[in-house]
Amino acid sequence: MTIQQVAATGTATPSAAGSTQLAGVFASHPDRRYVMFGGKGGLGKTTFSAATAFWLAQQGKRVLVFSVDPQASLSDIFQQDIFGKGPVKIIDNLWAQEIDADRHIKEYQQEIRQKILDMYGLEEVPQEIEDYIQAASAEPAMEESAIFDSVVDIVNQGDYDYYIYDLVPLGHALYYLSMAKVYDEWIAKITHLREEMREYEEVAARMKRQKEVDEDQILGELQYIRGRINSASRILTDKERTAFFFVVIPERMILIDTKKAAELFAKFDVPIGGYLVNRVIPEDLEGQSIPAYLRNRIVMQRGELDEIRRTLGPHVLGYIPELERDVTGLPMIERVAGLLYG
Ligand SMILES: Nc1ncnc2c1ncn2[C@@H]1O[C@H](COP(=O)(O)OP(=O)(O)O)[C@@H](O)[C@H]1O
Ligand SMILES: [Mg+2]
Repeated sequence: MTIQQVAATGTATPSAAGSTQLAGVFASHPDRRYVMFGGKGGLGKTTFSAATAFWLAQQGKRVLVFSVDPQASLSDIFQQDIFGKGPVKIIDNLWAQEIDADRHIKEYQQEIRQKILDMYGLEEVPQEIEDYIQAASAEPAMEESAIFDSVVDIVNQGDYDYYIYDLVPLGHALYYLSMAKVYDEWIAKITHLREEMREYEEVAARMKRQKEVDEDQILGELQYIRGRINSASRILTDKERTAFFFVVIPERMILIDTKKAAELFAKFDVPIGGYLVNRVIPEDLEGQSIPAYLRNRIVMQRGELDEIRRTLGPHVLGYIPELERDVTGLPMIERVAGLLYG
């Protein structure tokens, strides 16, 4: 049997690629409307996100698949420029959106400036404060917070049945998912900014002959932010509403890294819904005349697949075969959807 044939028939032996329990997982957990595929770069997160979105849309669900990755991977897979354009309709029931993170950060800086101007009745932002805004915005925590804020907006404003968040590679994803922490840092920064503002308060008050600055306004702002954090982190760590799947491939280093990451995710209480093993070379090829490198890869994968079964066992939801070409365009996405959802 060739790779294509295996992919097409979806032969299901315990290790055979092309049989998964994903459809069952979705059917038995209809409330899990926030779907994420995590894993190291290049393993298949965007591919599975697009295929899942496609399948759900075909089931009649309204789906948004979105990403904040500046690598513009959704544009690649859907072969359509969607970057920074808001939700773009792909097929019936399916929209894709790539968030322009830089623009959000700029808008976010502008918002801070405006708040300072309003709060202190100033005509323009003092240079020191401007420097501070610039410096703070360059920091990863601030940047990720601005990005995450736009994710929260998407999830709060949209009226989709499913939200599929095409994540950036694991390290970053962890950062988003540990948002409670990220936001704590962010609030610390705002509090710090507020303390700095106290120094300017006197100057500002003198300039505008204002005696008091509205403290309640600042506190109100912080409470509003905290409310958003809580609702966001509740969604993402909520077993009832979130499905988080790890994508792995049968390779030693990938499995080691994934185990470490899974432990971290568990610390942040992110409920891991299961593992998908991608790019499995069909073992049937071994019986054919194939080059040595391919034969060796099959042997190598067999060892890792044994390890996967031993360590992840029942948490493995399925195996997806190595395809003859990369996955771009709707016909290939549909093909992967067929492999994932049967
Ligand atoms: N089963 C597969 N067979 C062949 N190519 C695949 C398969 N899964 C993913 N790919 C290809 O591998 C590359 C990386 O996949 P991608 O989904 O972009 O990974 P990630 O989003 O995790 O970085 C892409 O070119 C994709 O088309
Ligand atoms: Mg990707």
